[in-house]
Amino acid sequence: MPTVAVIVVAAGSGTRLGESEPKAFVGLRGKPILEHALLGVFDAIEPAQVVVVAPRAKLTTASGIARRVAGVASDLVSVVEGGDTRQASVAAGLAALGEEVEIVLVHDAARALTPGTLFDRVIAAIGEGAGGVIPALPVSDTIKRIEGGAVAETVERRDLVHVQTPQGFPRRALAEAYARASTEFTDDAALFQDAGGTVTVVEGEARAFKITTPWDLRRAENVLGAGSSLRTGIGVDVHAYDDTAPLWLGGLYWPDEPGLSGHSDGDAVIHAICDALLSAAGLGDLGNRFGTSDPRFDGARSEVFLRETLAMVQGSGFAVGNVAVQVIGIRPRVAPRRGEVESRLTALVGAPVSVAATTTDGLGFTGRGEGVTAIATALLTS
Ligand code: CTP
Ligand code: MG
Repeated sequence: MPTVAVIVVAAGSGTRLGESEPKAFVGLRGKPILEHALLGVFDAIEPAQVVVVAPRAKLTTASGIARRVAGVASDLVSVVEGGDTRQASVAAGLAALGEEVEIVLVHDAARALTPGTLFDRVIAAIGEGAGGVIPALPVSDTIKRIEGGAVAETVERRDLVHVQTPQGFPRRALAEAYARASTEFTDDAALFQDAGGTVTVVEGEARAFKITTPWDLRRAENVLGAGSSLRTGIGVDVHAYDDTAPLWLGGLYWPDEPGLSGHSDGDAVIHAICDALLSAAGLGDLGNRFGTSDPRFDGARSEVFLRETLAMVQGSGFAVGNVAVQVIGIRPRVAPRRGEVESRLTALVGAPVSVAATTTDGLGFTGRGEGVTAIATALLTS
């Protein structure tokens, strides 16, 4: 087992962020804040035991996130329940450390974008000295002390810094300091220093800022924006012709064409698009999302499914990049109305939808004129 450990405190409620979920479980470009924070931890070169401290109601969710990020190293992560204050949560994390741990880093999950290099920098500096090490950045604003709303003095800022996490300490000294602490401190370094320890600084990282308010969350989204991730999905749907039904395909009515049988209006193109979107978002498929037996959707226009599908996809933190569809069959002839279908679907999806069509040279059920196949792919961004 590694002799370094990282305690990631994620047990706060996030009152100032004001979301319904505890802060560490709020989504940030498709992933919970805790997942982003753990990705940083696992980007460090130095192997470490990782202890996640989570609220009681989120222990299972936190374990899932931790296992997902840890992958093959999942033996190195554990999740424990936090306390009422940050200090109590750190204490719970300390109690879960393995015997062999000699250096411990304490990190706020709320500093979601902290790069792995900062963990390595702190660990390296602890190895060189005997005390604690904290990341800090210089203060660039002019700082003033006020009294009753009026400026009393301008404070010399040369000696002032902003401090961040991860804060690193020799494990035994930090555990002893925690065991003796009888008041609340604002960070681990203050508690450590109060117990007689010395603390030095290494250079912090602008990206290690703490997400506290909705503005901070938006800022984190923007910082991630440039490197947003892409996901593709695929969907296929087949319907047999039904001469007695009207034809709805690609969200349009096609007069004088044989209709398609099936649940709802049989619009194979929209069904394939829904499946492609759900597939890209990892949300399953039309069958398990809506169920063919749901009476709400009997004879329903397929646009209803598409709208609900888009709401689910967007609710999971994705935006649609584009959708491509190919229709395979003899009828209807798509070419004369291709532009119209594309405009209709582009308006429904809110992103470019391209439509192509082909026949199968007389082969198979589409070649024999028994039905229509639609194949769609979707690209999502998060
Ligand atoms: N934290 C914790 N246990 C607590 C309180 C805070 O583990 N009882 C963690 C938070 O999850 C966060 C870090 O400590 O990762 C820094 O705290 P802060 O940014 O203040 O988060 P919250 O306390 O959740 O937010 P708020 O103060 O707005 O409620
Ligand atoms: Mg707090």
